[in-house]
Amino acid sequence: MPITMPLPGRRPPAGESAAINRNIGSCLFSVAVLTVFLSAGTPRALAADDSGYVGSSQCVQCHREIAEVQLESGHPLTLRRVRSLSRLMESVPLEFSDPRNQVAYRIERSSDSEFTLDLVADRNGEADRMHLLWGMGAGRKGITFIGMTDAGAYGQSRVSWYQSTGGLDITTGLEDPVDNAYDALADWMSPPQREHCFACHTTRDADLPPERMDPASAGVHCERCHGPGQEHIQAMTQGEADAASTIGNPGRMPAIEQLYFCGACHGAPPGGNDLQALARYMVDKEVSRFPAQRLVLSRCYSESRDQLKCTTCHDPHESLVQTAASYDSKCLSCHGGDHAMAAGCKVAASRCSSCHMPFEGGFMTHSEFADHWIRIVAE
Ligand code: HEC
Ligand code: HEC
Ligand code: HEC
Ligand code: HEC
Ligand code: HEC
Ligand code: HEC
Ligand code: HEC
Repeated sequence: MPITMPLPGRRPPAGESAAINRNIGSCLFSVAVLTVFLSAGTPRALAADDSGYVGSSQCVQCHREIAEVQLESGHPLTLRRVRSLSRLMESVPLEFSDPRNQVAYRIERSSDSEFTLDLVADRNGEADRMHLLWGMGAGRKGITFIGMTDAGAYGQSRVSWYQSTGGLDITTGLEDPVDNAYDALADWMSPPQREHCFACHTTRDADLPPERMDPASAGVHCERCHGPGQEHIQAMTQGEADAASTIGNPGRMPAIEQLYFCGACHGAPPGGNDLQALARYMVDKEVSRFPAQRLVLSRCYSESRDQLKCTTCHDPHESLVQTAASYDSKCLSCHGGDHAMAAGCKVAASRCSSCHMPFEGGFMTHSEFADHWIRIVAE
């Protein structure tokens, strides 16, 4: 999958500000993480290095309302130490058997006090294990584990935990046959593969060896989208500059620019005149995993003159809203009333997205995705 990462520090040049749930259900997030951030009464000293990154805990004092909501949403919780996955910790040992490859899996407490949980794979009496370091995914759909062996190999676990079943199953994409216990544990990753895997699930330092990553860099925190905050905080403390000139705000981006920004992780739309990519995005249903790639195919996007962006329908600080009716007002902002920019529906007056953005599934284990190609879907 091709990816271009958003420039983490992207910030509009001074004066050019315009350029630039069903809740988590059985929440797996640890309240501890939140408490650490919110109880940070006395802010730590601002970062001393040149990067200008200060960490989310520094934003809380002035943006408490946003921070309280944001810290409980999918973005920041998408990468956590396994010991803070409280529900998982309570339900170990967890077992799963893969009869096709004759592997018995078990997640159990680690006997090595340096680690919390181990994944053990037993294939015909030959067993191997890796220590689980991180849980990737906030868990709305599932959590895949990043682990390491005593010999220092890193891997993406071949079994993941799934929300819809409350148990383990084979990780999407790792269904290929295995012929020994070691390969049954994980998809072993080279440093570039590791960095790629962490890239969309971290705020910074995706290239660090996973056991050295700081939990404050893990997950998509404020500065991943707004850029480093040091200069902004200094300016706001002194009360002199205009906020917008000191910090990035993807809400101010024109639609196409925002689609590429969010699309860096949510599937970048085709660039320029890449008609081959465009054709593939139209026929390949798996692309519904990538909202930005499908959204640009919609007439709502192409005929609304730069008015349809991700933030038209989503508050990026919130957990995903999962009731179709809550999106009606967004649709009707263009499709409702006498002076609407676009035609109304003769078929129904509510739950618009349920017919025009149906869920697609079958290509990822226990997962479905809302199709962002808004259209009259053929039966
Ligand atoms: C000392 C107080 C203070 C701190 C700390 C602070 N901000 Fe702000 N910020 C403000 C004020 C004041 C505004 C202007 C009013 C508003 O939009 O809330 C602002 C505005 C913003 C805006 C909107 C800019 C725009 O386009 O209008 C963003 C984005 C932002 N802050 C992000 C952050 C982030 C991220 C952090 C942490 C790295 C942070 N702020 C820390 C005071 C602060
Ligand atoms: C190009 C960016 C990108 C890369 C690279 C990437 N992911 Fe993701 N991942 C996402 C986005 C965006 C989502 C949320 C939408 C979705 O579920 O597809 C996600 C969702 C997930 C989820 C489900 C989260 C949940 O709450 O249900 C898991 C698990 C996951 N990723 C694991 C991984 C692993 C493991 C790797 C590396 C092998 C990886 N991802 C690489 C962007 C990425
Ligand atoms: C996934 C990207 C993303 C993350 C992470 C993120 N923001 Fe934002 N933020 C945005 C976008 C996009 C907007 C513009 C929203 C709009 O215009 O509807 C925004 C707007 C803002 C604003 C302007 C006021 C407002 O409500 O529009 C502030 C302040 C802000 N964010 C602070 C934060 C803080 C503090 C955090 C971390 C606790 C954070 N953001 C995390 C993307 C993000
Ligand atoms: C920013 C404005 C805007 C928003 C928001 C918007 N649309 Fe549209 N939509 C348009 C425009 C413009 C057209 C094309 C002109 C027309 O149909 O009158 C269109 C066309 C459509 C069509 C016809 C597509 C086709 O292929 O013929 C459907 C169906 C549709 N929209 C449904 C929706 C639904 C459902 C939502 C909310 C989930 C939505 N729209 C949100 C502007 C918007
Ligand atoms: C016209 C409204 C609309 C726009 C614009 C829109 N979305 Fe969505 N999005 C939805 C709806 C509706 C859902 C399904 C919510 C549910 O689960 O019921 C959704 C779901 C999602 C999901 C969860 C995917 C899944 O089904 O698990 C992600 C991630 C997402 N959107 C990201 C984006 C991004 C990124 C953009 C911009 C490229 C975007 N959305 C633009 C309406 C919109
Ligand atoms: C650095 C990569 C990255 C960027 C940039 C990014 N996202 Fe996400 N986003 C993710 C990942 C990873 C997830 C999956 C979280 C999880 O594990 O459930 C996600 C989840 C979401 C969800 C579902 C939230 C939930 O609680 O389930 C929405 C909606 C969303 N993103 C919208 C946006 C929008 C809008 C933007 C641009 C303003 C954006 N994202 C930018 C990586 C990113
Ligand atoms: C029960 C499914 C369903 C729901 C719910 C629904 N629609 Fe439709 N919509 C359709 C179908 C089917 C058509 C095609 C009708 C036809 O061809 O005569 C359509 C047509 C449209 C069109 C094209 C109209 C035209 O004359 O070009 C738009 C725009 C549209 N719907 C928007 C919406 C909006 C906005 C909502 C929510 C207020 C909504 N729809 C709710 C099924 C639905």
